Amino acid sequence: MSNLTEINIKGYNNPEARWARFGPYYAMFPLDFAFEVVDKYSKEGDYILDPFAGRCSSIYAGGVLGRRSWGIEINPVGWLYGKVKLKPANENEVIERLKDIYSLRKKYKNQIKKLPEFFRYCFCNEVLSFLLAIRKNMNWEENEVDATLMSIILVYLHGKLGEGLSNQMRQTKSMGPTYSVNWWKKHNLTTAPEINPFEFILKKIKWRYAKGVPNITDSYVFLGDSSIEFDAIAKRAKKNKIKFSLLFTSPPYWGVTNYYTDQWLRLWLLGGTDKPESTGEKHKMRFNSKIDYYNLLETVFSNCAKVMAKNSSVYVRTDAREFTFKSTVEILKKCFPKSIINTKKKPFKSRTQTELFGDKSKKPGEIDIVLTYK
Ligand SMILES: C[S@@+](CC[C@H](N)C(=O)[O-])C[C@H]1O[C@@H](n2cnc3c(N)ncnc32)[C@H](O)[C@@H]1O
Repeated sequence: MSNLTEINIKGYNNPEARWARFGPYYAMFPLDFAFEVVDKYSKEGDYILDPFAGRCSSIYAGGVLGRRSWGIEINPVGWLYGKVKLKPANENEVIERLKDIYSLRKKYKNQIKKLPEFFRYCFCNEVLSFLLAIRKNMNWEENEVDATLMSIILVYLHGKLGEGLSNQMRQTKSMGPTYSVNWWKKHNLTTAPEINPFEFILKKIKWRYAKGVPNITDSYVFLGDSSIEFDAIAKRAKKNKIKFSLLFTSPPYWGVTNYYTDQWLRLWLLGGTDKPESTGEKHKMRFNSKIDYYNLLETVFSNCAKVMAKNSSVYVRTDAREFTFKSTVEILKKCFPKSIINTKKKPFKSRTQTELFGDKSKKPGEIDIVLTYK
């Protein structure tokens, strides 16, 4: 597939559309937008680069439209969603693995009582023992089948009552434990829903694969920090004589989101701590330091500039707030001095993500910064 007119990504009626929405993630690109940018600013066979890939909307759109795309993502939740939707494992193997893991759950029953109370309000015992078995036995970093099963479970780990494995919760972002327990008490939801996790996840696997798997041109997403691990990626690109034609990304916004605490429950399932603790690592927090934030963007964009083709384009969607916007424009001008720069204000048409989570302060919206070769 190489042309946007040949693919309908609106519904769920073909594998590309069905897998495109895989992975609820805070601050993800609207799907149409990702496909339109790829279509307009690159051509079939080009290479696309996204150093802040999130759930890989840009890379996936590139892969569907016949571009070869590379992404880097630091958060294992986003990385897993991206890696799996670019190349889901064989359905039968995923189902067999689900059966294996489910059969181990009884061994973990007595560990439930060691978990903080939040977990017992959130999940019934059958789900909890299954999750503990998942947490201890899956090689999701290296094994494709485990990665696929794990990421499908992550998608449905929490959500609206009946739509996920949990008590009532948002799907995109994990709420804090104290907030959640108080909320469940206030709304008389102190008993977690009884769910058979095997039946529940089996149904979700079958639905996801019902139209097949997407046809994606060679595309990858690397797990890592793009300000540190970029050298290895640049070396690989050089070895394969690859130059990227489109840099299409959306960096984290200064002082807005902590992608680690937002996903703390999913990160727990991947082996992390049982409460939303800050890691203390600067690119895994809320990007509060202006200096660290500026340095991150400068390091990453100047690294990217070294692997871009001479007449490449750059498309960056970012926060309209002054510090993030001005820093990004300044850095991009330094890194791509031979390009023409245009900005397009994108005021939110609907409610913003943060507003949905209770923050009703007025938001200036987002801005697209587009650089094209002179
Ligand atoms: C605005 S989101 C990108 C969302 C993405 N466009 C999508 O559609 O899902 C920014 C992403 O940058 C990631 N990130 C932050 N610092 C990073 C770093 N140093 N290296 C790689 N990724 C990083 C965050 O984890 C987050 O997923």
